[in-house]
Amino acid sequence: MSNPYKPYPVRIDKVIVETEDKNLRSFRLVFLNPEDDKAFDYTPGQFAELSLAGYGEIPIGIASSPTEKGHLLFTVNKVGAVSSALHNMKEGDIMGVRGPLGNSYPLKDMEGRDIVIVAGGFAVTTLRSTITWMLDPANRDKYGKITFVYGARTPGMLLYKDEWRAWQKRDDIDPYITIDREHPDWDGLVGLVPAVLEEANPGSENAVALVCGPPIMIKFTQPVVEKLGFADEDVIMSLENRMKCGIGICGRCNVGPEYVCKDGPVFTKAQLNELPREY
Ligand SMILES: Cc1cc2nc3c(=O)[nH]c(=O)nc-3n(C[C@H](O)[C@H](O)[C@H](O)COP(=O)(O)OP(=O)(O)OC[C@H]3O[C@@H](n4cnc5c(N)ncnc54)[C@H](O)[C@@H]3O)c2cc1C
Ligand code: FES
Repeated sequence: MSNPYKPYPVRIDKVIVETEDKNLRSFRLVFLNPEDDKAFDYTPGQFAELSLAGYGEIPIGIASSPTEKGHLLFTVNKVGAVSSALHNMKEGDIMGVRGPLGNSYPLKDMEGRDIVIVAGGFAVTTLRSTITWMLDPANRDKYGKITFVYGARTPGMLLYKDEWRAWQKRDDIDPYITIDREHPDWDGLVGLVPAVLEEANPGSENAVALVCGPPIMIKFTQPVVEKLGFADEDVIMSLENRMKCGIGICGRCNVGPEYVCKDGPVFTKAQLNELPREY
């Protein structure tokens, strides 16, 4: 990308209302210019700035996988000015995407190891990308056992239902999909993510854990991950600090010496232990 501030023009190909409260929508975006599609070469864990003329930009994790050709997927929570403007857009509308930005999950270093993926709420976005990528026939043999623990408050707040239902039918991934409390529309697992993870008890030997979720989930999941025997070097997380430029220039996102937009958003727990508690 010659000018790092210049967004690629994209068309909103499909809008999917993901949750019962309608506050989470996925946007499938298609590049207007095929050469931009080729130039946007990303890896699971990266994010992009979604750019809306007249409103501004927001950093959003890339939820699609590079193995899903021809489109990008972003899942956006409606919280403020730009995300609300995006929620008001329709299929066929034109907007911009700037990126890909940031580092990614260390997929190469994770080869040959078992993978434990732990997600809460809508922080599952880049983990959807990762699982889709790992389950692709070209990549599945590179990894050992894959365990996926994912929870939301209610059945209607779970994202990507088609995907994890399909994963439940496969024998090369163990999905544990859970909701917080009993619900009439749910006959699956019930319990908070940390408890379900502990019960699932995936081995930590030669394994790496990817953990993303709201702060409260992270707080109660960390001791479980530790109890299961994961070293801090093998626990990988993704930060969502406030950002502006997304390319390490403005200084909006830094935590200690690290620019979350450029050095992150993906860090190991061991790396985070060294940073001031500003994230
Ligand atoms: C690397 C990265 C990946 C992200 N991925 C996703 C994603 O996949 N899906 C998604 O919905 N959101 C994601 N976010 C958060 C998203 O960027 C913010 O919600 C968005 O910028 C809000 O913009 P706004 O203009 O709609 O809201 P604003 O009008 O800017 O703010 C509205 C409210 O949201 C709060 N807020 C704004 N930015 C953040 C932030 N970064 N973290 C916490 N609270 C914030 C404000 O304090 C305010 O209360 C990600 C952020 C980062 C840095
Ligand atoms: S957002 Fe500008 S330096 Fe990170």
